[in-house]
Amino acid sequence: MAAAPEPVLILGGGLMGLAIAHQLARRGESVLVLSRRRSEAAGFVAAGMLAPHAEGLRGDLLALGQASQARIPAWVAQIEADSGLPCGLRPCGIVVPFASVEERDAYPTAGCGQPLDRQALEREVPGIGASWAAGLLFEQDGQIDNRRRLMRALERACVELGVTFQEGTEVLGLERDGVGALQAVQLRNAAGEAQRLPAERAVLTCGAWSAQLLPELPIAPVKGQMLSLQGPRQALGRVIFGPGTYLVPREDGLLVVGATSEADAGFSEGLTPVGQRQLQDGIAALLPAASHWPPMERWWGFRPCTPDEAPLLGTSPIPGLWLAAGHHRNGVLLAAITAELLGREISPTGPPANNLDLTLPSGRPWQQAFGWDRFAGEGRS
Ligand code: GLY
Repeated sequence: MAAAPEPVLILGGGLMGLAIAHQLARRGESVLVLSRRRSEAAGFVAAGMLAPHAEGLRGDLLALGQASQARIPAWVAQIEADSGLPCGLRPCGIVVPFASVEERDAYPTAGCGQPLDRQALEREVPGIGASWAAGLLFEQDGQIDNRRRLMRALERACVELGVTFQEGTEVLGLERDGVGALQAVQLRNAAGEAQRLPAERAVLTCGAWSAQLLPELPIAPVKGQMLSLQGPRQALGRVIFGPGTYLVPREDGLLVVGATSEADAGFSEGLTPVGQRQLQDGIAALLPAASHWPPMERWWGFRPCTPDEAPLLGTSPIPGLWLAAGHHRNGVLLAAITAELLGREISPTGPPANNLDLTLPSGRPWQQAFGWDRFAGEGRS
């Protein structure tokens, strides 16, 4: 009998790891996900905005975000069909408020949105703070309930498709053969024992911790603190994306509020009074009534950030090891396209994916535009 093929190892059980595991399993691959601590995954930390336009992305990153956004309904439908669980996709539109019309018109994605004057802003967001003179409505942007639904559905979909999981496992090192290709990963398992897993193919999806495993990768943590409030159901129909604070209303009235952006915090854990005050001030400025809504939860996490704030996708310095990391503020948005691109790249003989038409404004193929070595010669900041 032929030996069973070695599984593709997914190093990191966050959103990228699960999305790629799901895609590979659909392509007929055997997949093993190694995950350290679920609670630290950025997929559980984020607010779940699907916001290439509201985030004001530009250039190739905007095109990647738009391509992912176009795939999200089918991607979500597939996860829901495979898992039998809802993902909480909500195409509710996002409003970005501005202090002046000039600021609004200078926004990088202004041409993709509907300009709002103060009156229209009040119509879109009843109760919006008095200081906002204008806004942009991006009806094509929205949100997904990443914390409560998407992550769980994706994990269930993976299990249903035969993906296996090893929880509580820390990947300590990557072992290379005589020509430098991946041959094994070294681990510490949940019982604290050292373990060696032979592997010819693996995907590094360790988020903000990726450079601890592969120091060549220019990825650093950017801490974000968040909180949630329980609002009246339907008190807020649209996401409000203000400067420094955004309000993301779930269907049941839960309001997810994000997020600080602390590049100097490193991996320092915990909430800070300054960070929490920033969020409270942001709530008061955006939607004063929400300042009186009961608090539910507070949490923090670490975005994986690269020098140009775009992800590292595709091959790595180690043949056999692929990368899907560094998605910074846009991981939830980019998970669908990341899974599709990596799935096809790692398993080219699998069934054809959707007709992948990804044209970037730079004219470069995505492997180059988002390649890990694109910063060569620029120096590291
Ligand atoms: N996507 C928004 C954030 O990272 O805060």
